[in-house]
Amino acid sequence: MRDPDQIPRRNIYVCVDGAFQTRNHLGVRDTLRSNPNLRDQYGAVKLGLAAQGTNIVDYVEAKGTVIQKILKTAGILNEDELASIHAANLKGERYGAIKTSRLTIREFVMADVAPFHALESNPDVVRYQTWGPKSSEQAHEDVAQTIQSSFVSPRQVIELAVVHEQKFIGRIGAMMKRKDDNDVGLDPPHADIWFSFLPEVQGRGFATEAMEAFIPSLGSPLELEIECDPRNAGSWKMAERLGFSKISLTERVYECKGEWVDSLVYRKIV
Ligand SMILES: CC(C)(COP(=O)(O)OP(=O)(O)OC[C@H]1O[C@@H](n2cnc3c(N)ncnc32)[C@H](O)[C@@H]1OP(=O)(O)O)[C@@H](O)C(=O)NCCC(=O)NCCS
Repeated sequence: MRDPDQIPRRNIYVCVDGAFQTRNHLGVRDTLRSNPNLRDQYGAVKLGLAAQGTNIVDYVEAKGTVIQKILKTAGILNEDELASIHAANLKGERYGAIKTSRLTIREFVMADVAPFHALESNPDVVRYQTWGPKSSEQAHEDVAQTIQSSFVSPRQVIELAVVHEQKFIGRIGAMMKRKDDNDVGLDPPHADIWFSFLPEVQGRGFATEAMEAFIPSLGSPLELEIECDPRNAGSWKMAERLGFSKISLTERVYECKGEWVDSLVYRKIV
């Protein structure tokens, strides 16, 4: 549910009676109420993390060990259930937060649906995309799918939110292709990358700043590709600013929004 925008800040959520999660929440609560030693250990972990100013992905993993201790003491879960909670709390291939001088780049959360919709429903932003302006339902579905795909390992789709002064301003992403259709390893692996920012923040170097921080996180060696409509000057200028080389310009590659579209491909090996 929405943050009520009051102090202290909090998120409120509803748990279904009898559900696995509800039972676990109550188990943790009851154990901490009756076990001052564990309560203090848990408190110390949370205060330590709060002092560090962490992010949700690293926070959940960092809390995992003490949570396992509490759940074991609660005695309500079998070994398999404990192991599955442990695995779900690990960071895996998810991102914590990448900080740059002006930006935070992080995994999507459901609270991003409204600003993501503002971005993807803007006709200027989607002018050169293969899709039209998106409805709020579609935006909701996309964000949910993005969050789900972040748990897949090996990770194929990396789609991250870019935040400036606590506000969502855009998204960046990469589609990793480590194998070709015949399941033969690509050497080096390949990543198609993209970026999309709200019109009101364009022209300030945010997209370049975000991509310069994001690209090294994808690993190396890696072949990076930016494909765009040659009329999309914002996109090919970005490719050139990022040091990509023009590989090809193919005319009339596909039909989109009632017109034939050319395809400009930029690549860079990192
Ligand atoms: C592609 C897109 C992200 C580029 O946005 P952008 O704001 O032009 O890119 P940057 O953030 O790198 O900003 C660069 C511009 O800011 C200016 N700028 C101002 N301060 C800057 C700084 N500190 N650092 C770098 N550039 C700066 C640059 O001169 C440049 O302006 P110019 O293009 O007029 O020369 C944007 O056009 C967009 O979201 N388009 C819609 C979605 C889309 O088509 N995406 C591409 C498909 S992959």
